[in-house]
This record gives sequence, structure tokens and C-alpha cells, in this order.
Amino acid sequence: MKLQSLTDAAAVSRVYDDVLVPSFPMSELVTRDWVLDGVGDGTVTVVAAYEGEIPMAAAVTEVLSPGVMLLSYLATLPASRGSGIGSRLLDRVRQQVRRTGVGLLLAEVERPDCHAGSAEHGDPTARLRFYARQGAVVLDLPYVQPPARPGAEPVPGMLLLALEIAPSLLRDAGGSIDGAVVARALDAIMGEERDDGPREAALRAAARRPAVPLRHTEEWAAVEDSSAAPE
Ligand SMILES: CC(C)(COP(=O)(O)OP(=O)(O)OC[C@H]1O[C@@H](n2cnc3c(N)ncnc32)[C@H](O)[C@@H]1OP(=O)(O)O)[C@@H](O)C(=O)NCCC(=O)NCCS
Repeated sequence: MKLQSLTDAAAVSRVYDDVLVPSFPMSELVTRDWVLDGVGDGTVTVVAAYEGEIPMAAAVTEVLSPGVMLLSYLATLPASRGSGIGSRLLDRVRQQVRRTGVGLLLAEVERPDCHAGSAEHGDPTARLRFYARQGAVVLDLPYVQPPARPGAEPVPGMLLLALEIAPSLLRDAGGSIDGAVVARALDAIMGEERDDGPREAALRAAARRPAVPLRHTEEWAAVEDSSAAPE
């Protein structure tokens, strides 16, 4: 299995069709053009794992603001799961993050108590186990994922994880993270504040403090659930 960073539009398009489309609900998947435009202007990176010429897994990252990145997608095709490809891809992403001086790498994942999962789209509990093993922590915020594409709905009942945090961003002996950096990252993810509903407003308000508490991924159930708030 070889890992490759993609810049060629045809290769990116193939990974979109063959790895991302089968792995994520359409409501949570950005458009192909969003990926292609981002790769073109350098804000989006796609790393894929190939078995021969066939893409089997991929990681997509997006620059949110200087020094802050989002792992937008990480997926291994069902038949190849459990053989270490996802871990290898994530290692590669984390190496890139450290090399380029990025201070924060975030990821959005489903809460197991809000999302049932499926054979194609994955099991939320197994996914959290995967990220916990990778040393991820959960930001103590009622996270709601903004619509991934025009016409899609926001997805409540999500968790915001941090996979890399530079020591300079940690507060309270590592128990929390600089609130200003998190608030800026949320602004980049969520866009204009004037479009906020109550859930989005509650999320931004929760980040507006000097430091946002961090929890072990295993403690995710103690994090406030955005789907419990009024729409
Ligand atoms: C999560 C995922 C990327 C891991 O890739 P992988 O190549 O299977 O990774 P590894 O072999 O390195 O790690 C295996 C671990 O992945 C997790 N995993 C396995 N199958 C999974 C599934 N169907 N759904 C979610 N996570 C799964 C488990 O934690 C597993 O370890 P364990 O069951 O032995 O405890 C992959 O399972 C997947 O694509 N899932 C569906 C899409 C997804 O959930 N993406 C992440 C959200 S951005």
C-alpha cells in the first residue's frame, strides 16, 4: 500500500468518487468542486492510499486559518478496514502538520448516542476508539457541524476533536486550550454569525472564554450535546 499526496485533478476526482462518496452520507460530504478548488489553491490536501492503481483510503485536510487545520475526511473502504491504513494515513497527516508548523489539527465526529452509523458509513463507537488510540482529545463544546454543501442541513450531535495541539496553545496544565484560537477556528468552519440558529449561537458562545476545557475521548458522553438544544 503506497501513500500519495495528490495534486492531479483526475486523481483527486477518482478518490472523491471511489473513496469519499461511498464512505460518507451525502449530507456530510462537500462537493467535488470544493475539493478540486481547494487542492488547486493549496488550502485543501488529499492524501490517498493505493493498492496498485486503486485508491483504498484517503485523508482530506483543510486549512481553516493560519496554524489551524481540519481533518475534513478520513476513510478506508470497508473491505480494507482494520489493517492499519487509516492509522498510517493519519500519521502522514500529523507529520505534515508538525512539519508545516500547524498548531492545531481538528476533526468532526459523530456522537455514538446521536448517530447509529451503518456498514458503509462506519460505526461511531469504533471511530471514537480509533481516535482515542491516536491520542485525540474532545473539546468541551456542544458541536454542530455546518452544512457541508448548498442545500444540506447542519448536523447536530457531533463532537469536535483535537488530534494535534501545540504546547503553546495549552492552558491549565494541559487541561484546556486557548479559547481565542478555538473561536477563530469556529468562525472559519461556520462562516457568518448572522446566519446562526440557536445551536450555532450556543456553540460560539461556549467557545468565547479564555480557555476551552479538553476531555479524554473516552469521556465524550460528558460533553454537552448540541442536538439536545432547541433548533
Ligand atoms: C475510521 C477509519 C478511517 C479507520 O481506518 P482503518 O484503515 O480501518 O484504520 P486502522 O486499521 O488503522 O484502525 C482500525 C480501527 O478503526 C476503527 N474502525 C474499524 N472499523 C470501523 C468502522 N466501520 N467505522 C468506524 N471505525 C472503525 C476501530 O477503532 C478499529 O480498531 P478496533 O476495532 O480494533 O478497535 C475507517 O474505519 C473508516 O473509514 N470508517 C468509516 C468512515 C469514518 O468513520 N471516517 C472517520 C470520520 S472523518
